[in-house]
Amino acid sequence: MKAIVLAGGFATRLRPLSCTRPKALFPVVNKPLLEWTFERLEKHNIRDVIMAVNHQTEIAVKEQKIPTHTLRVMYSRDPPRKPLGTGGPIKKAEKLIGHDSSFLVLNGDIFADVNYTRLLETHRKTRATATIALCKVDDPSRFGVAELAKDNCIRRFFEKPSPEEAPSKLINAGVYAFHPEIFEYMPENRAVSTEREVFPKLAKEKKLYGYIHSDLWMDIGKPEEYLEINRILLNRTKGTQNQQASRGSQVREPVAIGKAAVIGKRSVIGPNTVLGHDTVVGDDVRIQDSVVFDGAEIDDSTRIQGAIIGGHVKIGKRVSIPKACILGDYVKIRDDVSLAEGVTVCPAKEISESVATARNICC
Ligand code: GTP
Repeated sequence: MKAIVLAGGFATRLRPLSCTRPKALFPVVNKPLLEWTFERLEKHNIRDVIMAVNHQTEIAVKEQKIPTHTLRVMYSRDPPRKPLGTGGPIKKAEKLIGHDSSFLVLNGDIFADVNYTRLLETHRKTRATATIALCKVDDPSRFGVAELAKDNCIRRFFEKPSPEEAPSKLINAGVYAFHPEIFEYMPENRAVSTEREVFPKLAKEKKLYGYIHSDLWMDIGKPEEYLEINRILLNRTKGTQNQQASRGSQVREPVAIGKAAVIGKRSVIGPNTVLGHDTVVGDDVRIQDSVVFDGAEIDDSTRIQGAIIGGHVKIGKRVSIPKACILGDYVKIRDDVSLAEGVTVCPAKEISESVATARNICC
């Protein structure tokens, strides 16, 4: 059984963190999102995984050396400077996927505990060309929304409808089972949007079905969603991750502390906080509701709340980083700097003065 993972997008909504890493490699409780996906695929006996990537993503994924265990991982690359969208990469991988059996397609930027085995079973039973995992959300307007008939055949499919237009709260979860017939609906050598070009046609021909997924699902496309998935998973694994918290500091669960992290005296970490591997936290530091990526260094008496701190960032003493701040990789923040809520800083930028209003600080 084969799966294709779409991982060649630009993740514009997660800048500046996505300037230096693809979304599929964002750490989720100290493990790359893609590693969670690989583990789930393995659990459901998928053997071959095709990573649909661009050149940079391919390099980054290979460098990360994610354990693949029994999976065989192949790469299918979009042409240089010609992103193929969400459908073009599937068409491009047609030979690798083959025509023998139905296959899975996964957006590489979502965290979803979908039961792939059941999705594929449902797909085979209905003899659909495509079966979309659907999940219920309060506000469907940012997503593709399905109108379902009683037999779960999708009558119509609306991409990002206005609240009045949305026919239901069942949205495209970014996980699909496709019959090889799908290739006939995808033109070759150009960008294709599966959601806008392929699904509406299939719906008209009654070849599109839904599979309702009611377990955990989260798109990590936006910073607040990224923090939320970390918070949810921290709560699931509460109390199991912090053997090496240093003496003299305090950990307020739920917290995850990476390998070789060092925490100074009287510092308070948590709740809802992830400290990456090899992070160094000084004395009297307070970090809560935040994710700190690997290798970051945070000096004494600094306060971080509700923020995302990129890899290898260096933060000085008595710094204040409040809610919705995002620091790109390798950012440096000098002593005594205070940032306003919602300040984002591009990778490797140095900040030596306080910032009073929310804005993006770039080169
Ligand atoms: P935003 O710019 O923040 O919307 O992110 P995105 O374009 O990366 O995400 P989107 O939700 O549009 O894409 C869904 C999935 O398809 C993601 O896993 C992307 O990585 C992937 N994807 C999007 N565009 C391409 C593309 O041109 N080529 C490939 N190979 N994958 C893509």
